Formats: sequence, structure tokens, C-alpha cells
Amino acid sequence: MHGVWGNRWTFILAATGSAVGLGNIWKFPYITGENGGGAFVLVYLVCIALVGIPVMMAEVLIGRRGRMSPINSMRYVTREAGLHGAWTAIGWMGVVAGLMIMAFYSVVAGWALNYVLLAATGQLSSLSGAAAGELFGGFLGDTNRLLVFHSLFSLLTFAVVAAGVTRGLGMVARILMPFLFAVLLVLLVYGVVEGNFSAAFGFLFDFKFDKLSMSGVLVALGHAFFTLSLGMGAIMAYGAYMPEHANVSRTIITVGVLDTAVALIAGLAIFPVVFANPGMEPGSGPGLMFVSLPVAFGSMPAGEIFATLFFLLVAVAAWSSAVSLIEPGAAWLVETGKLKRAPATFLLTLVAWCGGVGCVLSNNWLGDNPDGLHIFESLDFLTSQIMLPLGGLFIAIFVGWLMRRAIVVSEMDAEEHPLFDIWLFIVRFVSPALVAVVMIASLYDKLV
Ligand code: PFF
Ligand code: NA
Repeated sequence: MHGVWGNRWTFILAATGSAVGLGNIWKFPYITGENGGGAFVLVYLVCIALVGIPVMMAEVLIGRRGRMSPINSMRYVTREAGLHGAWTAIGWMGVVAGLMIMAFYSVVAGWALNYVLLAATGQLSSLSGAAAGELFGGFLGDTNRLLVFHSLFSLLTFAVVAAGVTRGLGMVARILMPFLFAVLLVLLVYGVVEGNFSAAFGFLFDFKFDKLSMSGVLVALGHAFFTLSLGMGAIMAYGAYMPEHANVSRTIITVGVLDTAVALIAGLAIFPVVFANPGMEPGSGPGLMFVSLPVAFGSMPAGEIFATLFFLLVAVAAWSSAVSLIEPGAAWLVETGKLKRAPATFLLTLVAWCGGVGCVLSNNWLGDNPDGLHIFESLDFLTSQIMLPLGGLFIAIFVGWLMRRAIVVSEMDAEEHPLFDIWLFIVRFVSPALVAVVMIASLYDKLV
């Protein structure tokens, strides 16, 4: 019933396509800015290494074992382990989380599409910091424009998922990802030459722990899940398409390292501009990238071309991620046999689209309207800081404690290897403990 990726590389490309997206280029820099920099980055990196990558392996191997949508893969491995069907809830929660993320994700991707248009028509040339801020603020007030680009992005995502992801994605990842990487490097060089690079570097890598609160630690942990597309079945769904023999651990480490590299380079490209412009603030929130980078492009040779290319590539990266937000639900609906792929995808995209309209209309991106509904903030908080970490926690417990060791070994394609035991130890003890402690501690912090 399922297609299979051609080889290990196709899986790496698809998983990287899912992982690398707005989370790296838009979200990582602004939440780093909001949470004081260095210490936040360090905690984030520790979470990637001790929770993200190990749990990603666990999630992929459930998908490989079940070879179906996350809901049915969970059902399969649960039955195989002789357990209660309640574990299937991991799959259900994932489908819901995917739609909730897609709601605001497609709105922000729409911002990027709008900036493609602005760049291509010369409206980003030689902007001052203040003018860039005004441009962005004005755009957020333009409901119609926001809705048009949100809808356009939703439609593009629908098209790929409806066609079936094994077909749609290979080329995107293979050709456009390297391009995105290259343009980020251009921005990085610009930051070194023209921006305040040393201030940016210090901000990102001086570990000032007094600046990091307990809720900041939860933001970092949650972002480790978000950025790796983890804890909601996206990577599980892709694992289901993975070929029979492929070394899971090496593959996943590659994806994790690429994703982390893109985030760090985005930070090193954005903050030099922020620190070189007195009007800009690292903690200014979701607009950070859209206000700082146009200023950099505006004063760069061939800046209009680079700006157009950059925002286009960001939109494409968001696109290949968005596909994996819809895919778990779509795959499940198709498996029920009640709907074909296109109508199933349409239904799911429509639900997410409505949520996005809510985000646009509540118009509270910059938190400056205290009476607003804060739909964007709520969706982001519920998914990144609650649903994905919980999903990851249960996946780690399931694979670490409840799956038969022989099955885990064979699906990892690992044979017996000392590194395997280290991984299993992390998945059993370290990752669940870290997630549980951070979630409980920040809850406690909020209540007391
Ligand atoms: N990992 C994506 C990013 O960093 O932009 C976002 C994402 C995609 C999260 C798919 C979750 C997911 F299932
Ligand atoms: Na990411």
C-alpha cells in the first residue's frame, strides 16, 4: 500500500526537509532573543543531544516497524507488545498537534511569501531599521493580505500531500536545501563584515545562566522537539517509508546535525544585524527575522536578488515541513479506506486553515494587544511545550521499556553494538527523566 523511499539518502532528504523550516530560521532566533541568548542556546543543544536525537531514533523505528500512519503503527506495535490500546493515543495526539502547528505555521510561511513579493518588486531596498519595523507592523495590520498568503501557502501544501509525499519531496530537499544553506552563508559573511558580529557571537555563546528562567528551559526543550519535527508522528510517518536496510542511527544523527547547523547559522546571520542597529531588540519577538534581514539585504550588493531568493527558499523550506504536519493525518484517513488521498488531505488542510484564520484575526503576533485572543501564542505553547514533549516522553518510554529488545535491535538495523546500549540507556532513563523534570519544574514555577 505504501511507497518506499528509493534509498537511505531519500529518507535523509525527506526528514531534513521536514526538520529544516521556519523553526530554524524564524523561531530559533526569536525565542533565543526572548530568553536571553547563551544559556538558552546551551540548554537547547543539550536537549537536542540527550532528548531530540535519541527520541527521533525511537520514533523512526516505531514507524519502520508499523509501516503505516502513526495511529496505525502505534496500534500495531502496541498489539505486538501485548499492551492496552491506549498507547494509540500518541498517534491521535500527533495528528491533532500537526493541525494545530500547521494553523500558525502556514500564516508565518505566508509572511515569507509576502516578503518574496516585496523583495522582488524592490520594496525592501535600502530600508532603515525603523522603516523595516514599520513595514512589518503595517503588514500585520493588513488582514486581507495576511489571509491571501496564508491561503496560498495552505494550497501549496495541500497539493504536495494530495499527490503523495514520496513523489513530491525528493527534489525540493535535494536541490533547494543546499541553496538555502548557501544564501544563509552569504548572510553570515555579511554579518561578519558589516554587522556587529562579536556582539552577536557573545550573545549566542556566552552562557549567562541568570538570564534563563525555568520556563525558558521548557521553551528550549520544546523547541528541540519542534525543530526536529518530533513527538507528533511526523518522523514516524516518514520512517514508515524507510527502506528495509538502512542504518537508523547514522541517518538520524545526520538529520539532527544539519538541522542544528541551519539554526545556529541563522542566529549568527540575524543577530549581527540586530546589534548593529540601535533600534532593534533581540527580544522583539516573532517579527525579528522579518525586520532585521531586510536591512541587511538592503545594503548588500545585489541585495534584491538575494532577498528574493532567501525568502523564497524560506517558504520552500516551510513547505517541505508543512507537508509532514499534514501527512500523519492524511495517511491515517487513507488507511481507513473511507477517503481517497486528495479529499482526506483537503479536509485536514481546511481544518488547519481555519485555525490560521483565527491566528490572523486575533492579530496578536507582537503581544501588544492585551485584550487579544492570543491564538497564535496558545497554539504554539500547547504544541511545543506540552503536546510534543509528552508525545516524545511516551515514545521514549514505549521503545525503551515496552518494545521487545530483539525488535528494537532489528529495526535499528544495529546488531549488537556498544553504542546501541548507550542509546538504549538514554532512551530509557535520560530522555524521559529530562522531559518529566523540566515539565514539572516549570509547571511548579508557574504555580508558585
Ligand atoms: N521542524 C519544523 C521546523 O523546524 O520548522 C516544524 C515542524 C514540522 C514541527 C513538522 C513538527 C512537525 F511535525
Ligand atoms: Na527545524
